[in-house]
Amino acid sequence: MNILLLGSGGREHALAWKMKQSALLKKLFIAPGNPGMSQLGKCINLDVNDFPAIKNVVLNNDVNMVIVGPEEPLVRGIYDYFLADKDLAHIPVIGPSKLGAALEGSKDSAKQFMLRHGIPTARYKSFTKETLQDGYAFLASLKAPYVLKADGLAAGKGVLILDNLQEAKDQLKSMLNGMFGASSATVVVEEFLSGVELSVFVLTDGKNYKLLPEAKDYKRIGNGDTGLNTGGMGSVSPVPFATPDFMKKVTAQIVEPTILGLQKDCIPYKGFIFFGLINAGGNPFVIEYNVRMGDPETESVMLRLDADLVDLFEGVATGSLDKKTCSISPKSAAAVVCVSGGYPGDFEKGFKITGVDDVTDSIVFNAGAQLSDNQMVTSGGRVLVVSSGADTLKEALEKSYRSLEKIEFQGKYFRTDIGKDVMQSVL
Ligand code: AMP
Ligand code: GLY
Repeated sequence: MNILLLGSGGREHALAWKMKQSALLKKLFIAPGNPGMSQLGKCINLDVNDFPAIKNVVLNNDVNMVIVGPEEPLVRGIYDYFLADKDLAHIPVIGPSKLGAALEGSKDSAKQFMLRHGIPTARYKSFTKETLQDGYAFLASLKAPYVLKADGLAAGKGVLILDNLQEAKDQLKSMLNGMFGASSATVVVEEFLSGVELSVFVLTDGKNYKLLPEAKDYKRIGNGDTGLNTGGMGSVSPVPFATPDFMKKVTAQIVEPTILGLQKDCIPYKGFIFFGLINAGGNPFVIEYNVRMGDPETESVMLRLDADLVDLFEGVATGSLDKKTCSISPKSAAAVVCVSGGYPGDFEKGFKITGVDDVTDSIVFNAGAQLSDNQMVTSGGRVLVVSSGADTLKEALEKSYRSLEKIEFQGKYFRTDIGKDVMQSVL
């Protein structure tokens, strides 16, 4: 089978790495890809939101299936675009329809979906400019801290958590006045839930589903979860507090009602669902849905997937996922992200990266590195993701940290405490 994978980050690199292990894969095309991925398939430079350009690549290269890495093309309706085009309709797109992608593309729609299907989530109300006064009153009825969420996609920056009521009111007003452009024309205000977070992933054909390994990601730039939010500084899998009992609650109260809800609402959904969950007092609640895999979770999750990913995708495409097996390794995996100095604030790009080829115990996924005159240079905030698998999480982390010592570029920074908080229970 010839496959086109859309995306260019560490997540897509990890998906490509896993697909490459399948005997079912003939040719892999990646658009736009990155230099790391060019060793796994043919990279084609295009914008993932340029559907006509994607159509050309698909038809010119005899592509049989398209895997969508990031959310934006899904929210813009790439699934529906294929279905509506007579030349493309027979080519499966792994990713939800536009209606399904609204689970991530509109937080208000996601909350309504959860309410409709009895899926546990924080109490909320949504507001627009016209209902600002009602928003103030709702905020006053809640206890601090206050959670404000831009309804639409806001490059991961659309959630504000505020300790003070007046500040929350001021920020609600700013958001409704365009702080995140059109994305915050509607704002979801919700109750704060206190607990530990984890990411749960499933692959679904819209009817059947397979649970993938769960993971915990580390979002803040500094050790001890301090400082600014980032696109992700590391991840580990498994997550010790995701005990069989807890996961039973997750599947019964969240995963299954979500899949059933999609069917009841007649929403076509063939792809990944990422449940951003919080364990509040032993019970799972949905913090957010994403309609794609997580980054940097994918960079540890893929190391624990013992199944043939292309075979699973085929099951998704043909509605026969129940016939496929999806084994999960009992081993542990850890991914540590190496970023440019200054990130997530201002940082310089174009620094020479050395040592990647000397890494033997880990897999180095490329997030923000490009080739310049045949030399790998930094091109983004998050540069490389160093992933390792081992019998224990401690060993997996040690491997990643040892590999990181070999990689050099000016301003290199990484957190030194990934996984430390959860390690005790998995030694
Ligand atoms: P998001 O940008 O949607 O990933 O949200 C950012 C972060 O805000 C989440 O990862 C949580 O840590 C936090 N968060 C969102 N909603 C809530 C909530 N209702 N209670 C507590 N924390 C929340
Ligand atoms: N790691 C969180 C995300 O991918 O949104």
